Amino acid sequence: MSHHITLLPGDGIGPEVADATVKVIEALGVDVVWDRVDIGVEAERATGKFLPDTVYESLEKTKIALKGPVGTPIAKGHPSVNVALRKHLNLFVNFRPVKMLPGLRTRYSDVPIDLVIFRENTEDLYSGIEHEVVTDVVESLKVITKTASMRIAKAAFEWAVLEGRHKVVAVHKANIMKMSDGLFLRCCREVAAGFPQIEYGELIVDNACMQLVMRPETFDVLVTTNLYGDIVSDLTAGLVGGLGIVPGANLGDTCAVFEAVHGSAPDIAGKGLANPTALMQSARLMLSRLGEREAARRMQKAIEAVYAGGKHLTHDVGGSAGTKEFTQAVIDKL
Ligand code: NAI
Repeated sequence: MSHHITLLPGDGIGPEVADATVKVIEALGVDVVWDRVDIGVEAERATGKFLPDTVYESLEKTKIALKGPVGTPIAKGHPSVNVALRKHLNLFVNFRPVKMLPGLRTRYSDVPIDLVIFRENTEDLYSGIEHEVVTDVVESLKVITKTASMRIAKAAFEWAVLEGRHKVVAVHKANIMKMSDGLFLRCCREVAAGFPQIEYGELIVDNACMQLVMRPETFDVLVTTNLYGDIVSDLTAGLVGGLGIVPGANLGDTCAVFEAVHGSAPDIAGKGLANPTALMQSARLMLSRLGEREAARRMQKAIEAVYAGGKHLTHDVGGSAGTKEFTQAVIDKL
């Protein structure tokens, strides 16, 4: 059966890692019909919009996308395409598994890190409601709702049960933001009460960051709001080799967009240096969701074999290979 998938290459290193990932999926022999739609800078050049309507038209049909990163201007310019896409499609779960690849040398190589972050994906300080109250005084609204908090907490606990995990920790700052993070925590507690088989804990976000650095192996599943989830995701990526490694998925009730944690990496874009592992591992999650479990398993084994061999690794993880050499090495291992 062929799968219809929307391909959103993005900008910066996006097209490089997207092409590499498509090549591996083709080499796996999975029958995919790609509907390629530009977003970001390329799309703006052609259509005048960073997020053209054709993206939604395609996703309306396919319900699933593989997406490269898209840059967002800092402190000026258009709003984030990524946030808009997640909100518009109601992709309320941002699922980010963080696991050490065998053979990869990092400061934490000997630590058995295997944790998963459930980041709320539609609200919080990413609601984009900002205004200047009077000159030089700006407000940015943090929006927390019961609906969004309950569904992210439920997603985390349901996944923990399904995957045989043992503990969910809610990460918050309810000591300071007593109302907003307080509501998030109350929702987590309410959901936790329905899952007595799963241990439940809570950590204030600053303490969580310290403990993640000192004892990452003690973490299992983390559930948190949008901003803390964004920061904690990059922190934990750093434990297992950096942003070139860690995959992600944006999940809703009807639609799913698979993308890496990393951004468009303008410092290395166009140089053939990007590590496509993160997007490849995101594609592995996508293949599993499509029911292509054997292909997903083969892809993961091939990636792990390349890391275990250590010869064709990219610069970000201490090697000297480029995107193409790494990709060919993965294909050779299939
Ligand atoms: P970044 O993730 O793009 O890069 C941070 C550092 O990690 C850079 O040194 C970069 O070279 C390195 N890096 C990232 N991915 C890599 C890979 N696959 N292989 C090798 N090295 C890699 O974060 P930064 O610089 O903060 O953001 C750049 C742009 O990306 C911004 O405009 C930001 O808004 C956007 N962004 C987009 C995201 C998305 O589309 N989902 C997520 C995060 C940031």
